[in-house]
Amino acid sequence: MYNGKETAVIAPGDRKTSGERGRPAGPCVMVIFGIGGDLTKRKLFPALYNLAKDDLLPKEFAIVGVGRGESSTPEFQKKIAQEIREFATSDIEPAVIDWMTERLYYHVGNFQDPAAYKSLAGLLANVDKDHSTGGNYFYYLATAPEFFGEITRQLGAAGLTQQTENRWRRVIYEKPFGDGLSSAHALNCEIEEVLQENQIYRIDHYLGKETVQNILAFRFGNGIFEPVWNRRYIDHVQITVAETMGVENRGGYYDHSGALRDMVPNHIFQLISLVTMEPPVSFDADAVRDEQTKVLRAMQPLSEQDVLMRTVRGQYGEGTDGNARLPAYRSEPRVSPVSSTETFVALKLLMDNWRWAGVPLYLRTGKRLKIRSSEIVIQFKSVPFMLFRKTSVERLAPNQFIVHIQPQEGISLQFGAKIPGPIVKLGTVNMDFRYADYFGSKPSTGYERLLYECMIGDATLFQRADMVEASWSVVQPILDVWQALPPRNFPNYPAGSWGPWEANDLLERDGRQWREPGQ
Ligand code: BG6
Repeated sequence: MYNGKETAVIAPGDRKTSGERGRPAGPCVMVIFGIGGDLTKRKLFPALYNLAKDDLLPKEFAIVGVGRGESSTPEFQKKIAQEIREFATSDIEPAVIDWMTERLYYHVGNFQDPAAYKSLAGLLANVDKDHSTGGNYFYYLATAPEFFGEITRQLGAAGLTQQTENRWRRVIYEKPFGDGLSSAHALNCEIEEVLQENQIYRIDHYLGKETVQNILAFRFGNGIFEPVWNRRYIDHVQITVAETMGVENRGGYYDHSGALRDMVPNHIFQLISLVTMEPPVSFDADAVRDEQTKVLRAMQPLSEQDVLMRTVRGQYGEGTDGNARLPAYRSEPRVSPVSSTETFVALKLLMDNWRWAGVPLYLRTGKRLKIRSSEIVIQFKSVPFMLFRKTSVERLAPNQFIVHIQPQEGISLQFGAKIPGPIVKLGTVNMDFRYADYFGSKPSTGYERLLYECMIGDATLFQRADMVEASWSVVQPILDVWQALPPRNFPNYPAGSWGPWEANDLLERDGRQWREPGQ
């Protein structure tokens, strides 16, 4: 994943590395199932467009969209060109859009119909001839998850997943990968009947975010932090992934999923594993994922009592955002008016291993919260005794190391400094690194890197079967208890707030508090 080039000191404004280019991927065809969905137009095509602009797509490249609706290739090309113009995250270059549309094909077919895969094989053989793509295909399953098993089986039966020495075949699975431990396990078994693990790319778009990848670079590329990165010096870890938006037009999916399934065993556990894992022996995909899996397995299992004491769920009611009124979750489109689905979750987790024993991991995520902000806070232990007790300093703020994931991207360290003047007074100050100051800001969808990595066959940033199952194992007891005890107080937080009070209580009981993000 990392090519380990030596680094030079970069000054703010240099922006040296942002223009550096990698090598284009090798010849291949991307086949997208679920072409009509939001993900395709909002993320996948804008990401492909950015890759094309950065010369990271091969010249020998084509895209086949598989959909159930009647359409034709020229219609599809027109539609996609328009959507790229609408959803691109960077400036429009008509020549790049033309280049992409020239290699776009539409294939109509029912996902359950073997004939659709036979004709797909025929189309792909022609595409190979016209674009010299060499029989290398990757399939992106952006469909509803109930089709994952079926599509995989059908692709296998049509001979479309068979690799040879000269050509590769890979499948990317969008989330959600299962809706609990047993369904994730069943899905793994089902797709492993057709594919080898090295053909399977379970995507988690959080791993495509630069700041998330930077956690590894930061921890293992700098000698000064690792010695204090453990239970001796760290008091606790907090992770907040706060969204201001509601469920928009995804009520149908979300009302069955809820905040826990939607965000925790995937995005948030990725963050936790990167922050807490041991140094891998190399940056090979399996070496990194072995370490991630180990820490996921080290999470202390939650008993029923733990679930009651250490988990908080919430659902937003009506609220306001400045002057605008925000609707309650139960009034959102395609949400049941008596829904007991949670839109907020806060948890306290513990890890049973030598590095982290006794260090709580607090996490919270929710929709319609006060601000949009994702951050990881590492709070260090306080100094062993109060040297300043005969002065006017009453309390020393703990050192916090903060990884800002979005919308700000950067890292900051908070520490105490003397406020100038004759009296000893301490104030908390910040040492700040902002990505944009050093590297410029390059609007990306987060999918660019992941698509590129799949094309070059590097699975480091994708989840392995054992990681997915280890994550669901942690969450499953919570799902079980919550299902057995439906919430009685929903809605329990107003839209536009920081969630239910119980989430604050979760930390206050331990003498701690959430950091207010965005400060
Ligand atoms: C998706 C969830 O996986 O991640 C959404 O299904 C959520 O509900 C989204 O809004 C958050 O992603 P990001 O990149 O905006 O933090």
